[in-house]
Parts: sequence; structure tokens; C-alpha cells
Amino acid sequence: MTADAGLPDTMRDLPAWTPDPVELADLELVLAGVYRPLPGFLGSYDTAMVVAGGRLADGTPWPVPVTLTVPKELTGHERIVLQDPEGVPLAVLDVAEAWQDPVTQAWRLAGPLEALRAPPHGPFHALRRRPDELAPAEGPLLAVATREPLHRKQLGQLRQVAERLGAAVLVLPLLGGEHDESLVRALLGVRKELPDGARIVPVPLPARGDHDRDVLLRAHVAAAYGATHLLAEAELDGTAIPLVVPEPWAYDADVEVWRPVARIEPDHVQAELTAERLHELLDAGEPVPDWFTPPAVAAELVRARPPKHSRGITVFFTGLSGSGKSTVARGLSDALIERGGRTVTLLDGDVVRRMLSAGLTFSRADRDLNIRRIGFVAAEITRHGGTAICAPIAPYAATRAEVRRMVSAVGDFILVHVATPLEECERRDRKGLYAKARAGQIPEFTGISDPYEAPDDADLTLDTSRMAPDEAVGEVLALLVDGGWVRPD
Ligand code: ADX
Repeated sequence: MTADAGLPDTMRDLPAWTPDPVELADLELVLAGVYRPLPGFLGSYDTAMVVAGGRLADGTPWPVPVTLTVPKELTGHERIVLQDPEGVPLAVLDVAEAWQDPVTQAWRLAGPLEALRAPPHGPFHALRRRPDELAPAEGPLLAVATREPLHRKQLGQLRQVAERLGAAVLVLPLLGGEHDESLVRALLGVRKELPDGARIVPVPLPARGDHDRDVLLRAHVAAAYGATHLLAEAELDGTAIPLVVPEPWAYDADVEVWRPVARIEPDHVQAELTAERLHELLDAGEPVPDWFTPPAVAAELVRARPPKHSRGITVFFTGLSGSGKSTVARGLSDALIERGGRTVTLLDGDVVRRMLSAGLTFSRADRDLNIRRIGFVAAEITRHGGTAICAPIAPYAATRAEVRRMVSAVGDFILVHVATPLEECERRDRKGLYAKARAGQIPEFTGISDPYEAPDDADLTLDTSRMAPDEAVGEVLALLVDGGWVRPD
């Protein structure tokens, strides 16, 4: 693919590449000056130094590798255009080094970035600011960089520390999680409870897995925005709720040292709601107590994690052809529709192959694509609070796991293995396909001449050779009722 129109003539013929979401966030922060002094993506030596010791090769503290992975074919070019997923060119990378990661063997490109245009942002883009667009604070500036809403306790601590330091407050909601809009709305909703003049500036900073390095990166980001102190997320009292408590340090951008900040003493710690208890309340649709969080935040918590009976769900059936998936899936769909209360979309294997996946073969690549398409649609249905019932063979565990991940990011996912033995499926042979497969007329037939990887992560296993279809439907329904997704009769 080459870069598209809208570019200066000299760049039209450059190859174009769409980085992944974390790399795109990095690109945006480099260009906005938030990642200063980084001029672009890191090379092999800097990356090795950062991974080993949290410093660039020149000794500058830098906590995380900021790298760009590309296919090997792109490694022979001097410049490439980086674009967003919709194909909008964002920047040109001047390739200083093409290198191969010694661990993953992935190819990487390093070099400085030249901005073409500001990335178009999604919801709340009007709140985004580059550091140079913020008026510098007169005195100390206390930043909170958070992926979680601020509840009463954190708000109280924030006011207290800000007052003690005589600091202005800057709230940096870190985008890149599953409920970015809810996070920003929850923070806007408590504006009145923040110290006067507090600013809220969303920053694209997806979590990177290593918590300690993640906290250090937040400190760099906060420092770039002019913060003199940072309230870091931490765990208190052994509960799993991330809290905003002062760490015993703050990063001073001017002298590049960590300075101590007074710790809040335990007698200021109020009663706490554990993450587990909070989830229980939300799942059951019970109110979140007012002592824990302001109503505006509670409303966003509910939006991000609705009560189970109105939360989106995908019930994914997997099993051999003729195992009874379609029959049980259809029975479940009918039963849910009869009960009312949930909207249902049935994505049956054969039906999908006539519509969404028309033209695909039964090669591994095409089967995977088929299942990914089903997963994409199911995730959208789930995101909107609906019920998706899928019934393809889905023979590969890795692809099923991918669908589980896609759906779980936006709602709930249940895997039902219809484990009717091959002999029984073949004995039924309603479509006559097994006979043809045995006769060699259908190549790559699942169970005969193509693999089926039985799941080890099924939430329910059914064998329709041992139970009537109604019974099988009853088992799935019982699971949904017990789990709280469907109200009992
Ligand atoms: S999957 O492997 O991609 O999940 P899918 O559920 O869409 O398969 O389609 C399976 C249906 O296609 C079977 O029920 C059967 O009717 C038909 N079919 C045709 N050829 C094959 C084949 N080679 N392997 C399995 N099913 C086949």
C-alpha cells in the first residue's frame, strides 16, 4: 500500500503503514511533545537500555520502550508514512534504523517523526490539549493521571494534598481502556468537587502491563504538562481498587530528580468498598453507596458495567457439524424471545456462510476469518446490550479465544461446547456431508480430514446424544438465569 492523496507530492509514493493502537498513542504523544525528549520511535540500543535499566543510551531516564513494529517488507525504505486506521496520514517516519527484536523476532523501525496533521480525535476531543497549549501554572501543579474515576476518598485526598502544597490541580484521564468516555464523563461529573480551577485534559496512554513502569511513564507525562507533583494510583489496605494516593516522591522535570511528598496518614483513610464488592453491587443492579462515590460517578460506573440482566452477552456454541449446535442455539433464541426482556440475534454457522461470509472456503485462513467476522458482529451486538447467539463449528481454540477477548472487552461471553461424539454426528448425517467427506468428495471436512480442537475453557458442555434438544436448551437457559443474565420466570 502506498500513501494516499492529501500529501505533498514528494510523499505520495512513500509506503504507508497503520501502527497498532498503542503505537498510534505513542506517535501522538511524541508529536505533541508529551514524550520529550523522545523525537520518535526508539532504536535497538536505546530500547535495550530502557528495558534493562529504565534509561536511554545517553542516560536520560525513560521508563518504557517506545517502538514501532512493521512487516519485514517495510524495512527497506528510508521514509514511510504512518496513518490512522481510516487511512489518514499522520506523520512521516525518517527511518534511522530497521532492527529485529532479539526476543520476539519482530521487525522494528526507529527514527524521528515529522507531523503531517493532528490526529482526528474521538469523543471529548475538544478537551485535548498539547502541553504547550496549557497556560503554565504560577506555583506548584499537582497532577492526577488516572484510568479510574475519582471517588469520594480520592477526591478528599486530592483536595487535601493540593491545599497542603498550595498547588493547582491537573487531572489527566488516561485513555486507551475499555470505557474511555465513561472515565472522562465521570471526571467531568465531579468537577465541582475538585479544587477551584482544576483542569481536565485527556491523554492517550494505554496501559502497558508493567505497573511500575506505567507509573513512571505517567510521571513523565505529568511533568511534560508542567506538573511539579503527581498523585499516583496505588493500592491501599490490600484492596484491589486502584486509589489515588500520594507516593513518597514526585518527579521534578527541571532537575530530573524524584522529590519526596508528604504521605497521607492512615487516620484520613475512610471506609472502602472493595472492587469485588463494587462489582457485586453493579452486577445485581443495586445502588452504589453515596459515601463511596458521588452520584455522577456512580452513574458512569453503571454505564460501564450495567446490571447483568441488561448487560450485553454472547453465547457462543462450538462443535462438529451435525452436533446439534444450530438446534440448541435456535431453541435458546426462541426461549429468550418468548420470555421477552432481551433482544436476540442468531448467527448460525450455515446462515452466516450464506451472508456475512459468502465466498469463503474451509481453509484454516478462511475459517478463521469467518469466525472473526462472527466475533466482530457479536461484539457489536454485545456492546449495545443485546444477546448474540453464535453457532459455527469454530474448530480452532486460538480463534475462539480471540472472539472471547473481543466480546469480553464490551460485555460478557459464554462458551458452550456441543460435544456430541463424531460417531453420532456421522450417524445422523442429516446433510449427507459426512458420507461425501468419507468418499473424498469434500476435502478438509472437520472431524474427518480437518482438525477440531475441543475447548478446555467451555462454560458448559452438552452432549446431544444423551439428551433431548429441549433439555439441552434448558441447561443453557439455567446457566444464564443462575449467572444473572436472564431473570428467572
Ligand atoms: S467454521 O469451521 O468456519 O466454523 P462453519 O460453522 O462456518 O464452519 O460452517 C460449517 C458448515 O459448513 C457445516 O455445518 C457444513 O454444513 C458445511 N461444510 C461444508 N464444507 C465443510 C467442511 N469442509 N468442513 C466443515 N463443514 C463444512
